[in-house]
Amino acid sequence: MQHLVDTNDLTDLQIQNLLDDTRTFKNNPPAQLLKDKLLITLFFEASTRTRSSFEVAAKRLGASVVHLDPSRSSEKKGESLEDTFANLCAMEPDGVIVRHSKNSTPKLLADMQTTPVMNAGAGNYAHPTQALLDLFTMVEHFQGNIKGKTVAIVGDIVSSRVASSGIRLFTRMGLNVVLVAPEQFMPKNLPIGQDLPQYKRLEDVMDKVDVIMSLRAQLERHEKELFEDYADYANQYCITKERMGDKNILLLHPGPVMRNIDISDQMLEDPRCKVLTQVKNGVFMRMAILKLLLLDA
Ligand code: CP
Repeated sequence: MQHLVDTNDLTDLQIQNLLDDTRTFKNNPPAQLLKDKLLITLFFEASTRTRSSFEVAAKRLGASVVHLDPSRSSEKKGESLEDTFANLCAMEPDGVIVRHSKNSTPKLLADMQTTPVMNAGAGNYAHPTQALLDLFTMVEHFQGNIKGKTVAIVGDIVSSRVASSGIRLFTRMGLNVVLVAPEQFMPKNLPIGQDLPQYKRLEDVMDKVDVIMSLRAQLERHEKELFEDYADYANQYCITKERMGDKNILLLHPGPVMRNIDISDQMLEDPRCKVLTQVKNGVFMRMAILKLLLLDA
């Protein structure tokens, strides 16, 4: 039984097949590929993109989707996570898509070996489907020539599961990754980003990078106040037209974007900014992931 807890679960061949299938599905999604399949989504944290994207992907391929809202589930009566999952599995779904605040939850559920588990974002460690759709967006943009390109991940890296999964996947695929953040936002005691070039100032990387991946400023997660307010943060790290100039840089963000804090209004309208292309590609990448886990594996 194959799961997707993190991209490390995938072989190089499987990653290549996912990229190929995503491209194929973007041209022509097969409407009945997952006919008779049933998926359950189990999101213990809020989501706009990932949950809808999985649901759209599944339905466009002919599958059915059931959503369990944990805030209205028997978890509220004290049922454990493992028991909740075991009960859902007793209904014989073809896969469960889970988001949780704890890094360990998707692996814990996958290790029960009852149904394929897809990690839709866990703690600050892994968001594999986001990393894969970001990889596809770069492959598409650079027409396959991504090896040696440099990606700057900018912002609250230490809190970000997108950064964590992205670093592992992008470096594996031959991209260079540099990190841009104030000291408190840099990973220190986490198993990511230790050996990557680190910069405090955005200005120091603007001439070296092919891609900027801006992250949401999560000031609320930090105990020690670093900035007076979001405007103070934006002053140093917001991706603006002034900072981008006429540079040929692909601008990405996993969402939700905090306008004029992470990226300016003007840059969100700029053709170099592919935030909504990422969202569109996410549906096709998740179709490819469902095909891999439910049919091919
Ligand atoms: N990119 C992402 O994970 O967005 P959501 O939190 O809206 O799913």
